[in-house]
Amino acid sequence: MSKQFDVIVIGGGPGGYIAAIRAAQLGFNTACIDEWKNEKGGPAPGGTCTNVGCIPSKALLQSSEHFEHANKHFAEHGITATGVKMDVAKMIARKDAVVKQNNDGILFLFKKNKVSFFHGRGSFVKAVDGGYEIAVKGAANETLVAKQVIVATGSNARALPGAPFDEENILSNDGALRIGGVPKKLAVIGSGVIGLEMGSVWRRLGADVTVLEGLPTFLGAVDEQIAKEAKKAFDKQGLKIELGVKIGEVKSSKKGVTIAYANAKGEAQTLEADKLIISIGRVPNTIGLGAEAVGLKLDERGAIVVDDLCKTNLPGVWAVGDVVRGPMLAHKAEEEGVAVAERIAGQHGHVNFNTIPWVIYTSPEIAWVGKTEQQLKAEGVAYKAGTFPFLANGRARALGDTTGMVKFLADAKTDEILGVHMVGPQVSELISEAVVAMEFKASSEDIARICHAHPSLSEATKEAALAVDKRTLNF
Ligand code: FAD
Ligand code: NAI
Repeated sequence: MSKQFDVIVIGGGPGGYIAAIRAAQLGFNTACIDEWKNEKGGPAPGGTCTNVGCIPSKALLQSSEHFEHANKHFAEHGITATGVKMDVAKMIARKDAVVKQNNDGILFLFKKNKVSFFHGRGSFVKAVDGGYEIAVKGAANETLVAKQVIVATGSNARALPGAPFDEENILSNDGALRIGGVPKKLAVIGSGVIGLEMGSVWRRLGADVTVLEGLPTFLGAVDEQIAKEAKKAFDKQGLKIELGVKIGEVKSSKKGVTIAYANAKGEAQTLEADKLIISIGRVPNTIGLGAEAVGLKLDERGAIVVDDLCKTNLPGVWAVGDVVRGPMLAHKAEEEGVAVAERIAGQHGHVNFNTIPWVIYTSPEIAWVGKTEQQLKAEGVAYKAGTFPFLANGRARALGDTTGMVKFLADAKTDEILGVHMVGPQVSELISEAVVAMEFKASSEDIARICHAHPSLSEATKEAALAVDKRTLNF
């Protein structure tokens, strides 16, 4: 016997579990199917984000930052910390406990919101009676039917041709989050978000880290001035980043990994390392979804084709998150999940793609929203820029972390904020003020006239807004 639902969500990552909760809140009888298993084979909803992405990476970034502070920064506060040691196994166990708290939290939320959870792989079987039959195989073996289906099956790490992940020597994000001891030499291919975050974790713990990047520019999607400032800080920390390389053969043996590559000048090089993290982007995941059984359209990258409203080519089938176009970010997936549930309910769910913030959780952190200066130039938009360095911010001085700046870009005529870019302490939190401002179409003068608490890092945001009009007060 099949079980009938109003809405079935396939995938329980941030796109899927949030869509399921919102659909249930709107009164739909909702099922969510997710196949992720914990080490005991039990359910571990939350997807990449919770299990091998956002949450565990931030846990390790926190632990490694404490270690670096104890070793390098306590002394300037008059604190003597001798014999500081890192127990990697304990750090990893703490990270696993944080992950489990989040898995359990999602299971609790499903119960609270009366979402029926099925642990297993969900696949389209056929179209039936204006809806779809979905088979669940795994811990749960069921046949479910619904008129509305939301696909949120996420993404997987992209492998480098000729160097498949073994999670021993050649690591994806999964293996990079559970290295058992600090490698002496760590190589990373790809200086994107994962490369920088995971490279930072292991560098702080004492690894000699070299990051090999194919493109000649560092963080090409980031505002150039901000990327330059960040690169300076990473260089100073000893994170070695080689740009413009061409990777050749990658050999893995019991001893470690050997990477042959050509440097930016075209000279042949060899890098020996104990471990190699490959972080060269992610690919949309539709493995085992049975897309072909119902004719669900995929593009050449394997992403599910959707329109601006996340509608697929099939009536009643929607797709959200990493498995569709757009940035692969948890909060983007969540916003799409909420919007789709609301659209199913006949409401006007909305996602503003122009105000999705990005954060890279290195130290200094990098955060931005809206257009970069190079994008505005390319689009021929007349703009004004204002910057303010953390060096001139009292709170940053008191914290002992004055790296970086806040930068505002505003329309030359209307003063509307077009982009805000930050590198520095805690900018992952500061960026939300800029997101709110842009969402409400604020001008830089609006921010400049708002009272910000003193002493706070947010005063750098106000001062950067003042700088657009060349009237900073503290610089
Ligand atoms: P996923 O989270 O990938 O979830 C998909 C789920 O669907 C998985 O549980 C999968 O098992 C399940 N599934 C797939 N197919 C089926 C099927 N047929 N049946 C049943 N279940 C299925 N983003 C941020 O915004 N901030 C960060 O700090 C951040 N850090 C990251 C760090 C790392 C190391 C990585 C790898 C990613 C990070 N991301 C971050 C990206 C973020 O994790 C993703 O954008 C987000 O998880 C996408 O959510 P999703 O719901 O689309 O897919
Ligand atoms: P990425 O797209 O951020 O970076 C990949 C990098 O690898 C790029 O700089 C690219 O030029 C380079 N590259 C690609 N092929 C290469 C090759 N053959 N040789 C050398 N360099 C090569 O991808 P990454 O770091 O794998 O992360 C995937 C996604 O996960 C991110 O784009 C982001 O959407 C998400 N993520 C988000 C985080 C956050 O929000 N803080 C943290 C981690 C991941």
